[in-house]
Amino acid sequence: MKILVTGGAGFIGSAFVRMAIGETGSQVVNLDKLTYAGNLENLAEADGNSRYRFVHGDICDEGLVDSLAIEERPDAIVHFAAESHVDRSILSPEAAIQTNLRGTFTLLEAARRHKLGRFVHVSTDEVYGSLAAPLEATEDFPLNASSPYSASKAGSDLLARSYFVTYKLPVAITRASNNYGPYQFPEKLIPLMIANAFEDKPLPVYGDGMQVRDWLYVDDHCRGILAVLQKGREGEIYNIGGNRSLPNLDVVHKVLALTGKPDSLIRYVTDRPGHDRRYALSSAKLMKETGWAPAMDFETGLGRTIEWYRGNAAWVARVRSGEYLTYYERNYAAR
Ligand code: NAD
Ligand code: DAU
Repeated sequence: MKILVTGGAGFIGSAFVRMAIGETGSQVVNLDKLTYAGNLENLAEADGNSRYRFVHGDICDEGLVDSLAIEERPDAIVHFAAESHVDRSILSPEAAIQTNLRGTFTLLEAARRHKLGRFVHVSTDEVYGSLAAPLEATEDFPLNASSPYSASKAGSDLLARSYFVTYKLPVAITRASNNYGPYQFPEKLIPLMIANAFEDKPLPVYGDGMQVRDWLYVDDHCRGILAVLQKGREGEIYNIGGNRSLPNLDVVHKVLALTGKPDSLIRYVTDRPGHDRRYALSSAKLMKETGWAPAMDFETGLGRTIEWYRGNAAWVARVRSGEYLTYYERNYAAR
């Protein structure tokens, strides 16, 4: 199978590319703009592989996307490319609107024009918004997005589904919970806390730290996407959850315990505007239809992730320089 992957130089996309090439024997064309979050170092092991091609470009570039569809005629598109960070979407929403909405539209149009095969749109549990316990969102839950990021993802989900309903494009949508694992950009909770703990820097906890997220190891997410690609039904939405809900503060305490650092590094800071209190997903549909289940237990996965960051200090130092410092100052200085 030849797969056009978008955003394959990011955190989840690169894990998917490594898996698709290494385990499924697929051919991969990776279209990525290399924003601050895209990093070809994440794909060093794909370099030189005859089943892998990297294309540097923007998913909003209609001419480029069109020529790739004609030239490569992929059997499937797996669409990861996005502005993926909630805090950045709050500071400057425009990039999220452009890439997540316009970019998704550009890809869907090319897939429609050239009658391409399966289109997997990778989305998020954030589209369901905050849920009171013990509710768990099933795929038919109403959309209730809170941030510009999640609103742009909810909009792109609706657009993707409309291409199935209207044009019979074989679209499937996945909605995953919070991912963690190696190569995650250290603006997200877990890698940020690990990187700061290593350097004895304050660990900024938003509000009271009791917001709940469901943690999913990145390889479990990628296996879920492969399951949807191979066995999912056209026009359907599939939740992919980690089945491990924890308050942020518990996650931060675990990071401190595993890095051997004191709880005194925790700093309670001003909350994120519009902060969703609790996400929770039911993945029963994906499990029942494909046999998928998350395999990684959180403590093991967190330990592995910490060891990966410890062993890749040069990667961390490179991505935490330049633009990252400006972002960090903008997001945290006044909190
Ligand atoms: P990331 O920020 O690590 O990577 C995003 C990638 O997309 C980067 O390589 C970047 O260069 C590329 N990109 C951004 N704009 C682009 C554009 N206009 N054209 C081409 N490439 C572009 O993101 P991630 O955390 O790996 O998330 C990947 C996808 O999974 C996103 O769609 C996100 O909404 C979704 N998702 C993420 C999580 C999570 O916990 N991280 C959970 C559920 C769903
Ligand atoms: O739920 C899936 C979503 O998970 C994905 O769609 C997004 O792409 C991904 O970024 C992630 O969004 P979150 O906003 O949940 O992730 P983040 O790592 O930014 O924050 C996780 C929780 O930790 C959230 O409640 C905010 C809190 N937090 C985050 C940071 C960066 C802090 O308390 N302090 C911080 O410094």
